Amino acid sequence: MAETITADMVIHDIVTKYPATVKVFHGHGLPCTACAVGARESVAGGARTHRFTPEKLEQLLIDLNAAVRGEPVSVAPKKAPTGRGIPLTMSSSSVDRKIKQVIAIMSGKGGVGKSLVTGLLAVSLRRQGLHIGVLDGDITGPSIARMFGTSGQPAKSLNGGIEPLTSKGGIRVMSMNMFLEHESDPVVWRGPMVSGAIKQFYNDVDWGQLDYLLVDLPPGTSDAPMTVLQSLPVDGIIIVSSPQMLATMVVKKCINMVRQLKGVIVGIVENMAYFETPDGDRYEIFGPSNGTELVGLSGAPLLAQLPIDPSLTKLCDAGRVEEYYSPTYETLAENFINTLKVKR
Ligand SMILES: Nc1ncnc2c1ncn2[C@@H]1O[C@H](COP(=O)(O)OP(=O)(O)OP(=O)(O)O)[C@@H](O)[C@H]1O
Ligand SMILES: [Mg+2]
Repeated sequence: MAETITADMVIHDIVTKYPATVKVFHGHGLPCTACAVGARESVAGGARTHRFTPEKLEQLLIDLNAAVRGEPVSVAPKKAPTGRGIPLTMSSSSVDRKIKQVIAIMSGKGGVGKSLVTGLLAVSLRRQGLHIGVLDGDITGPSIARMFGTSGQPAKSLNGGIEPLTSKGGIRVMSMNMFLEHESDPVVWRGPMVSGAIKQFYNDVDWGQLDYLLVDLPPGTSDAPMTVLQSLPVDGIIIVSSPQMLATMVVKKCINMVRQLKGVIVGIVENMAYFETPDGDRYEIFGPSNGTELVGLSGAPLLAQLPIDPSLTKLCDAGRVEEYYSPTYETLAENFINTLKVKR
């Protein structure tokens, strides 16, 4: 008796074992079999990527099982897609998108506060009653789970995907740290594995309905940022910088990379812009602001200039980022929302 094809099976394994299923995938508008990247996904993951409704996924499975048994299927094969090996690019225009906007947080340089800006933007947006997810795209140096104090391992969801962990404040979080036995275990992975994990975090995680999915990226212009920009339906990119000359130079590289990959920069955040004493005196510890220069370079607005606040570091380290409140971050969230409204 033929085995039953289920949603958690990998497309590549199915088409290798049952070549008759290729035409079923194509007939259902899933060209994943022709794509070296997409074929490594599960059926459920491929369906999510292509915005399938649960009914459409069910029909696909019925047809796949019929093809395996040599029975007639409900779809006529469309012309097989060309372009084997081209990364999967997804359309962001689909109306049945469960995640309304995917926003990536980037910078050319390490340690300028990408993860912190990602975390606090998520917190401020959540305070406005929005549904927020945070995907930790820093696979080898994850910090998001620690910041939100989530513990435990993600479980399998009802749809056969992965259930993200939820923070105290209701933010859905997915990070590589959740899969390590010890938080300090190193993830010694090469680029393709890192890219695969990021795609899985997007495709195989049951994010549910989200207003914004924020993707925290590792520094630089390497595999991980490229994967996110090329394989996820990113609607906009926030660039984080700090007022150091070197930061500006490397951030320029980052802006140029986004341009090359046809991404849209929705705003610049200047972090560690100043330190304010209890008396209200401001000191520009890392030098004068270069926000205006970056605005000129990127053509995107300056969303916020954030101060250095030692209490913030403590809360992040203690997994209590959601307890932090500062009007500056509320302003960041408001500017962010308004900028996206204008862009839409
Ligand atoms: N405005 C700030 N005030 C105080 N501490 C800050 C501020 N911004 C960042 N930090 C601290 O600086 C450190 C680096 O920040 P963070 O991890 O967010 O940077 P990153 O750009 O994500 O780094 P990486 O490139 O390694 O991913 C953290 O300990 C963070 O808590
Ligand atoms: Mg980081």
